[in-house]
Amino acid sequence: MTDLLIKNIGVLATPLGKCAVSGSAQGEIQLVENAEIAVEGGKISYAGAESGAPNAAAVVDAGGRLVTPGLVDAHTHLVFGGFRQNELEMKLAGVQYLDILRAGGGILSTVRATRAAGEDELYAKAAAFADDMLRHGTTTVETKSGYGLDTETEMKQLRVAARISREHAIDVVSTYMGAHAFPDEYKENREAFVDFLVNEALPQVASSGLAEFADVFAETAVFDIAQSRRVLTTARELGLGVKIHADEINPIGGAQLAAELGAISADHLLQASDEGLDALAASGVIAVCLPATSFYLDKNFARARTMIEKGIPVAIATDFNPGSSPSFNMQFAMTVACLKLRLTPKEALCAATLNAAASIGRADSKGSIEPGKDADIVIWDAPDLNFIFYRYGNNQVHKVIKSGRVIE
Ligand code: NIG
Ligand code: FE
Repeated sequence: MTDLLIKNIGVLATPLGKCAVSGSAQGEIQLVENAEIAVEGGKISYAGAESGAPNAAAVVDAGGRLVTPGLVDAHTHLVFGGFRQNELEMKLAGVQYLDILRAGGGILSTVRATRAAGEDELYAKAAAFADDMLRHGTTTVETKSGYGLDTETEMKQLRVAARISREHAIDVVSTYMGAHAFPDEYKENREAFVDFLVNEALPQVASSGLAEFADVFAETAVFDIAQSRRVLTTARELGLGVKIHADEINPIGGAQLAAELGAISADHLLQASDEGLDALAASGVIAVCLPATSFYLDKNFARARTMIEKGIPVAIATDFNPGSSPSFNMQFAMTVACLKLRLTPKEALCAATLNAAASIGRADSKGSIEPGKDADIVIWDAPDLNFIFYRYGNNQVHKVIKSGRVIE
């Protein structure tokens, strides 16, 4: 018997398929009016036109509202100590993000706070974020370590992420990002830190099974291309998938490196060159655009229209972190993706669901509403798809269903 029936759906809006889509297919969203969804064993067993209700143990009446897949936030830094509201006035006075980092603040100040924080304290803080993310429609989240840099603290962050995935309804996908900045201990000897990452940290993380992907901040004054290549090549040899913070502030060739290494995604890409985008298009790397970061850093926006024209699958994520993107609200990122990346609501929905799921290796089970996929579903206080992009600023979620369970 059906465990759960969601009936009286005004519009069911979903991308379809089990892999990332690109070009004009990114805007192909199936819209079904007067729809229903049946759930069995936490998975979708039927999604489509109302078929005359089968017997169901529980029924949710969507009241004519819009229903979409649960949102997938494919790039966050969820586990961290402290906050960085002190940087706001510096930013307003014109101090640049990388200059704050060069002066030992920015990421490095969060490293100090995260090293000092107890594991339970980090868990309580991140779990509270996860509660709130779920209430805002995010049912799967990727999170990166990278605020320890030393192995002890990196492992602490990864254990916290794993515990959230175990104990919390939200699904967590973990990425190791020991190459997020150069720690003070290695300030004078950067190559020695890369040696440490390659020879000690990465093998330990890979054998722990606590991370699926590795990521590097490839940027001027942070990891150059040769250092990033060394870290990510080793990660790949150790069986980890590869991601890159690429061409966020300066176009140093992060996109090309992502293509060369067969990364699953290249993220940020605000400054990616035409050659960089051509390389991504040729290699099938997913572009994870982070419009809330452009907004908060007051920088330009990634060239998502060009990406779509070139056939690059585009995903969007919040980049939630205490420095460059202090919001985990995917709804905000989605509206900015429409207004500033110039995605249509249909393209942006795909970017926040199916393509986002593909960018973290979950497109087989998440990112669309169709039989066999996890029953991760959002019922919106909205009559149609355009509405959720248009009426930004407040939480428009009516109900979230995670693995077939209604979140109260
Ligand atoms: O994705 N750019 C590097 N990492 C983060 C910011 C981290 C921080 O400022 O704490 C990002 O923007
Ligand atoms: Fe990031």
